[in-house]
Amino acid sequence: MTLRGRWGRWCENGPVNDLPDRLRELLLDAGYTIDGVRERLGEVAATALSREETVPALRATRDGDLLGTLIRLWWLGVPVDAPAALPVAELAAAGLVTAEAGRIAATVHLQPWETGGYVVSDRKVRPGDPALRRDHVVGAGGASANLAQLVSRRPVERALDLGTGCGVQVLHLADRAREIVATDVNPRALELARLSWALSGIKGVDARQGSLFDPVADDRFDLIVANPPFVISPGGRFTYRESGFEADGFCRDLVRLAPRFLAPEGTCQLLANWLHVDGEDWRDRVGGWLTGTGCDGWVVQRDVQDPAEYVELWLRDAAEQGTPRYRELYDDWLGWFASMNVTGVGFGWITMHDSGSLDPVVRVEEFGQRVELPVGGYVDGVLDSITRAHRLADAELPGARLALADGVLEERIGPPGAEDPARIILRQTRGLRRSAQVGTVEAALAGVCDGEYPLDPLLAAIAELTGENLDDLRAKAPEALRPLIAEGFFHISTG
Ligand SMILES: C[S@@+](CC[C@H](N)C(=O)[O-])C[C@H]1O[C@@H](n2cnc3c(N)ncnc32)[C@H](O)[C@@H]1O
Repeated sequence: MTLRGRWGRWCENGPVNDLPDRLRELLLDAGYTIDGVRERLGEVAATALSREETVPALRATRDGDLLGTLIRLWWLGVPVDAPAALPVAELAAAGLVTAEAGRIAATVHLQPWETGGYVVSDRKVRPGDPALRRDHVVGAGGASANLAQLVSRRPVERALDLGTGCGVQVLHLADRAREIVATDVNPRALELARLSWALSGIKGVDARQGSLFDPVADDRFDLIVANPPFVISPGGRFTYRESGFEADGFCRDLVRLAPRFLAPEGTCQLLANWLHVDGEDWRDRVGGWLTGTGCDGWVVQRDVQDPAEYVELWLRDAAEQGTPRYRELYDDWLGWFASMNVTGVGFGWITMHDSGSLDPVVRVEEFGQRVELPVGGYVDGVLDSITRAHRLADAELPGARLALADGVLEERIGPPGAEDPARIILRQTRGLRRSAQVGTVEAALAGVCDGEYPLDPLLAAIAELTGENLDDLRAKAPEALRPLIAEGFFHISTG
């Protein structure tokens, strides 16, 4: 029986096939949830598992009870005695387990997810496992969660999940998008994604096979999300992480093409990798992808790795560390990077918004600080601050009513006993938790700006108090305040 035939039958939901609903109920009753697994494994075993070490988790699940057995079967991937509670024959017919002489083994990885649903993928690879198949379907992991927390919480009419894989982003979109299209170049991914949706009680997702935007050529979306195959490698060996496009060309093309598929006011959010090339500023490289798209954009580099760190990470990801080909693959990859003068690889977030403005703005920045999660809860506001600061004419500033953002604190640093501080820092305790060094006038404004009065009378009051020349303050205001507005320290009050 083909894969499609087996798993396809499982997904034909309805009165004849209520297996997904029954299995979900059984998993929930057994406590096979994120909290249930976390509690059962405990801190040490869970942390060891994040390093792909399974021994502590196997020790924590050896009692033979239903929860421990489910964790062993579908999370740790080891054969177990078939529990009486599981409809083994049906699960075997549906292609989720193989059964022999009272023992069952998982054919897939089936894990609870933070939305309360379940995600089905190919079995996890761990060190010592056989080589990955080319069309391996990766499970939900750190990058999936990273994108999910970045995506705007705004309800939308139509959403696209490009490169859906195991279907995890759809679990996050399901309660805020009326229609969802999910695409993937890998047909096995779509089969497994359908299992994830069926097990999570999500119906009506329009799954389409094809590369990049090919399957949605005539469509428009209010939201496009993508955790794309962003890994930059010479071979394009694994579909789950490599597109086969040259270097970082897949993410570049995705960004450049996305606006054609966005509805007015639509947003596209993706994770991406980009090259750092000797003699080129990475900001120009990635900023250049967005320039000319007509969209406002916000690019954040969250991490950068040197070539060796990057190669090791992704060889480890495919459990290739310690294999006979490890050195050769490592050397080839490094040689390929060297041939392109690559000095590092950046990882980060890209958000684009089609505001229809004739004066779009793209902000490219880097920060490593811990931010308030989920970013999706305030990402629309971040973009709004960037665009408002950019489009605010100097002549409009004196009449603008500024309000200090919630949670901004002031720090004054200087020698003990000194009359004036050496440095004044405004620090956000919410959102992106940015900090900015400011002058005494901006600090004074931070103390009085509550959205009630226009800027100019406040500057006049500060000039009188400090003895500074009012015309000087007026002249300096745009340059001093525009970055603080763009970075969300001050909002322009519309009330
Ligand atoms: C890193 S996985 C992301 C899976 C899932 N969306 C998540 O957030 O975890 C990238 C997915 O992109 C798919 N993919 C690879 N090349 C593609 C292409 N040219 N067009 C569309 N999808 C592609 C892969 O099959 C894989 O499922």
